[in-house]
Amino acid sequence: MAVTTQQLIQWKQQGRSIVALTAWDYAIAQLLDAAGVDLILVGDSLAVVLGYETTLPVTLEEMIHHAKAVRRGVKNALVVVDLPFLTYQESIQQAMQSAGRVLKETGAQAVKLEGGYPAMVETIERLVQAGIPVMGHVGLTPQSVHQLGLRQQGKTPEAGERILNEAIALEQAGVFSIVLEHIPAHLALQITQKLRIPTIGIGAGSDCDGQVLVTADILGLSEKQPPFAKVYTNLRETITKAVQNFSLEVRDRQFP
Ligand code: KIV
Repeated sequence: MAVTTQQLIQWKQQGRSIVALTAWDYAIAQLLDAAGVDLILVGDSLAVVLGYETTLPVTLEEMIHHAKAVRRGVKNALVVVDLPFLTYQESIQQAMQSAGRVLKETGAQAVKLEGGYPAMVETIERLVQAGIPVMGHVGLTPQSVHQLGLRQQGKTPEAGERILNEAIALEQAGVFSIVLEHIPAHLALQITQKLRIPTIGIGAGSDCDGQVLVTADILGLSEKQPPFAKVYTNLRETITKAVQNFSLEVRDRQFP
């Protein structure tokens, strides 16, 4: 059965942990969906596969192009698409246009936006009022890399309280779930206990209502992984060996 935003909230109530992974193309999306992943995020970590150093250069056109491919590969999982840098922060109208395009053109069910500051809360409130499901994202927000770096956030009591308050404000604005990225486990637990909606952690300890990682990281395809990622298989090595074997056989005229 197709996963809905309401289903995620029910799973939190039932204590069933939510499995989320990123996808940027049809083939991986199809594999993740068939393997039973609950939520597939077309993250702006798409930057990795496009060869960008940060998520900042990713455009709305690029997100839409890849999200369409992902959506074609998914039957059951909930598909959420990141709005990239400066396609929603300028004004509510800009956010509405970008989110509207994503939903209309890709067939995805929801968008994700970074940040929990007052203007973003207001923007999210308006998107939700317009019928657009929104996922929040607080803690380390990679679109703010030039302000925050890629360091763990919420380490001091004041910083932790700010993130907690952002999460509460986002829930009140109507998000159906929130990504908690790279914050201390005790803070993630506090937020998870406080909110009715599910928290999806990435580098935020084991007490969130679900976990998300970048698929390229768990498959060992990324050049470097964040410290909190777990590599479940080394596809860089597997691919390199396969390509070297093919090259050898072609040069030796063993293939075909
Ligand atoms: O862009 C992305 O892949 C993300 C996840 C890391 C949560 O936002």
